[in-house]
Amino acid sequence: MYVITGATGNTGKIVAENLLATGQKVRVVGRSAERLQGLVAKGAEAFTGSADDAAAMTQAFTGARAVYAMIPPDMKATDYRARQDRISDALSAAIAKAGVSHVVLLSSFGADKPAKTGPIVGLHVFEQKLNGISALNALYLRPGYFMENLLPQVGVVRSMGMMAGPLKGDVALPMIATRDIGEYAAGALEALKFTGKQTRELLGPRDVTMKEAAATVGAAIGKPGLSYTHAPAMMLKPAMVGMGISANVVDLILEMADSFNSGYAKALETRGPENTTPTGLDWFATNVFAPAFQGKAAGA
Ligand SMILES: NC(=O)c1ccc[n+]([C@@H]2O[C@H](COP(=O)([O-])OP(=O)(O)OC[C@H]3O[C@@H](n4cnc5c(N)ncnc54)[C@H](OP(=O)(O)O)[C@@H]3O)[C@@H](O)[C@H]2O)c1
Repeated sequence: MYVITGATGNTGKIVAENLLATGQKVRVVGRSAERLQGLVAKGAEAFTGSADDAAAMTQAFTGARAVYAMIPPDMKATDYRARQDRISDALSAAIAKAGVSHVVLLSSFGADKPAKTGPIVGLHVFEQKLNGISALNALYLRPGYFMENLLPQVGVVRSMGMMAGPLKGDVALPMIATRDIGEYAAGALEALKFTGKQTRELLGPRDVTMKEAAATVGAAIGKPGLSYTHAPAMMLKPAMVGMGISANVVDLILEMADSFNSGYAKALETRGPENTTPTGLDWFATNVFAPAFQGKAAGA
């Protein structure tokens, strides 16, 4: 049986659905039985509990052939790093106590760095904790920048007629659709070919700048030539807090953006067939961003 944390989220849902589709036994973990219901209808067993509860997670992981582990984000956390560490403590303890032999961990590109990368530091720390469990076979997936990070731009485009954010417009980043991460993770869980501690970057089909992203998104929403502006932190911080993100999380996001802008945090693997994933930004723009934009437009 496979145990999937964050199972109602972007990547976990795809991992669970893919494993269920190939006839595997799957236990899905989340905080709400109601939100897990869709996966139960597809054959999964639901386990409700919080990722920071080591006793509950030990119960959830008991009997697992392998676990998909992740730190679920909370954009309203007042001390995001401390919350990440509580969750990675609980999940690591549960993995050790339940005697799990194989874990696929959702980490990030840049997780090789111990500091100055904002929320990615918490993923570096989680990798280190799993490194300390000697009998464990672990695959650290280090995906690039999620295309889904562009979704808050729906509101920016509506109100300002352009895209804006903390990334420099001409810095090319590996951008990946979360469904591709889920598919890769499901394949790795099913094959269980990894041994010891391994890392694997997942880089999307190609590196993309925010200026290119704006042009692609603009074409999909009927705004050709949509522009992108690299906005200063002093302007962004109040705007992001106004969107409901805690000041602490905003500071971490800005630190992460600086680490991408300077090239301090970057992909380490040479791009090749193993780390290049299929879904392009044009697909995301048409099938995810545009419907979100249209929905917002209709409701505005
Ligand atoms: N954004 C990026 O560019 C990027 C890049 C690389 C890596 N990452 C990492 O990717 C991860 C996020 O992955 P994702 O997008 O797949 O996740 P997600 O969709 O944001 O969330 C996953 C699920 O976790 C559950 N959850 C929230 N708090 C929980 C808690 N306390 N206990 C148990 N479950 C909880 C939620 O479900 P319920 O509400 O139903 O419980 C949620 O649906 C983060 O660790 C992030 O650092 C992000």
